[in-house]
Amino acid sequence: MRVVWLLSIISVHVLQILATAVPRTLLSTTCIRIASEISSASDVYYPGHVKYARGINHWAASSTQLSDCVVEAGTAADVAVILNILGDTRTPFAVKGGGHGTNPGWSSTTGVHISLYRFSQVNYNAATQTAEVGAGLIWDDVYAALEPYNVNVVGGRVPGVGVAGFALGGGYSWKTNQFGLTADTVTAFELVTPLGAVLTVTQSSDPELFFGLKGGQNNFGIVTKFTLKTFPQTQVWGGIITILEAFFNDVRDATVNFHTNVLDPKASILSTFDAALAVPIVTLHLFYDGPTPPAGMFDEFMAITYLSRDVKTRSFLSLIQSAPAQLTSGQRAIFQTVPYLDVTTDLINTVINETKFWSLHLTVPTGTFISYAIEPFLPTLYTHNTETTAYPASRTQGYMPLNIYYAWLGSLSDPLFHNAAKASAKVIRDSAVSQGQAIASDAPMYPNYAIYDTPLEKLYGGNLPRLRALKGLVDPQNVMGLAGGFKL
Ligand SMILES: Cc1cc2nc3c(=O)[nH]c(=O)nc-3n(C[C@H](O)[C@H](O)[C@H](O)COP(=O)(O)OP(=O)(O)OC[C@H]3O[C@@H](n4cnc5c(N)ncnc54)[C@H](O)[C@@H]3O)c2cc1C
Ligand SMILES: *[C@@H]1O[C@H](CO)[C@@H](O)[C@H](O)[C@H]1NC(C)=O
Repeated sequence: MRVVWLLSIISVHVLQILATAVPRTLLSTTCIRIASEISSASDVYYPGHVKYARGINHWAASSTQLSDCVVEAGTAADVAVILNILGDTRTPFAVKGGGHGTNPGWSSTTGVHISLYRFSQVNYNAATQTAEVGAGLIWDDVYAALEPYNVNVVGGRVPGVGVAGFALGGGYSWKTNQFGLTADTVTAFELVTPLGAVLTVTQSSDPELFFGLKGGQNNFGIVTKFTLKTFPQTQVWGGIITILEAFFNDVRDATVNFHTNVLDPKASILSTFDAALAVPIVTLHLFYDGPTPPAGMFDEFMAITYLSRDVKTRSFLSLIQSAPAQLTSGQRAIFQTVPYLDVTTDLINTVINETKFWSLHLTVPTGTFISYAIEPFLPTLYTHNTETTAYPASRTQGYMPLNIYYAWLGSLSDPLFHNAAKASAKVIRDSAVSQGQAIASDAPMYPNYAIYDTPLEKLYGGNLPRLRALKGLVDPQNVMGLAGGFKL
């Protein structure tokens, strides 16, 4: 595939530019103070060190900044020491999980970058059917560690995505139709609060914080460990099909029919209408949580004429890693989202038109890839948790998050792409409303997909006063306000 090959060449080029950026020479006094107060379990790295580079690196180049130093914390107690110094000196900082955030400055800083790589344990507890998972891991590592036990957790759908940011924002998974969002499956958080306490937060120990951490992102401190429910895992069926523009309507029809007719919660799909270097292309992800899907379930998809197809019975990890999510890694990127209620022909027609329209208007300047992901879920997706959570604010209605993703080269084009993502989301939203979908006012936007200037009301709705009250109690000095993110 020539398009794919070109994209990887571009990524390598961008990475080379990044790697040769001139390092800072002045050592920050805050970094020096941190180095002198942390235990021997932690280290501070400066520009030029390979662990500095790994610390600040993100999936999207636009999410990477050169920090004064990278602190690799080794214990929760050291994270508390670091937060205390940062609050004391009012130093801007970042905390990064898997570095897949697309909003600039959400997990990067020119100040102190806190890296969680050393929180990398996966401890499976067969008796409680839970796994303790370090906050520095990506989902691939968690799936690999649990595979020998034939169990799994509810996590990311493509390779490379971090556990921490994903779980703290919600988490839409291949297994969400069966078990809810990732946040719904968290039974405990190990949290370092902005006041320096190391807490194990559970529903019974601290129901308010437990509520806030399930969607509230980095507002309440730094999570060092998640305890997640585990579920039996067999081999799965699925993978990726790429399809050319001539067959887009076939994908549309199969997607609508799948959403309308398939009520088996083990089945899940992602239909992404993309354009790679102005060539429209569908990347279709199919998933069934078992070695063989029931007869007929995916036949309509399998009958579409394809460019490439890699669909088979395989391990869960193999399915995750079959997705081409790393192709545009190293380029600039932005996400935006539209919450919607139904997958219809009209909605997908709008999406196909947006794909083609913005392909012409964006990929001609510096764009390399644009993508609109239709992510059908069952209307029951929020019914797997009866506790209240920061996101979604209400569970009476099951919304799906449409994901808009653009990739490009060169920071001068940032405003063009950011504005286009917002404009396109508005077109899709208005179109869904005009088609009768009740999403005009209180439909929640998914915090992990929403663009940076989304009003907090749109993310948290009626939960906002409760979250702000909690924030005032947990972080009276607004230490977490020194880090990027949607700030309460
Ligand atoms: C290729 C790709 C695929 C994706 N697929 C999905 C998907 O299938 N489903 C889905 O729901 N989402 C998906 N996402 C979105 C994903 O949920 C967000 O990008 C999420 O922020 C990733 O988490 P991270 O740890 O990698 O990100 P980071 O950039 O490291 O962090 C994101 C945010 O979380 C905060 N944070 C990170 N670690 C901690 C911590 N330990 N304590 C407190 N705050 C912390 C950061 O400060 C930052 O504000 C995808 C994103 C990408 C780029
Ligand atoms: C396609 O999308 C563009 C941009 O949103 C819009 O101007 C145009 O009217 C749309 N065309 C159709 C047929 O919907």
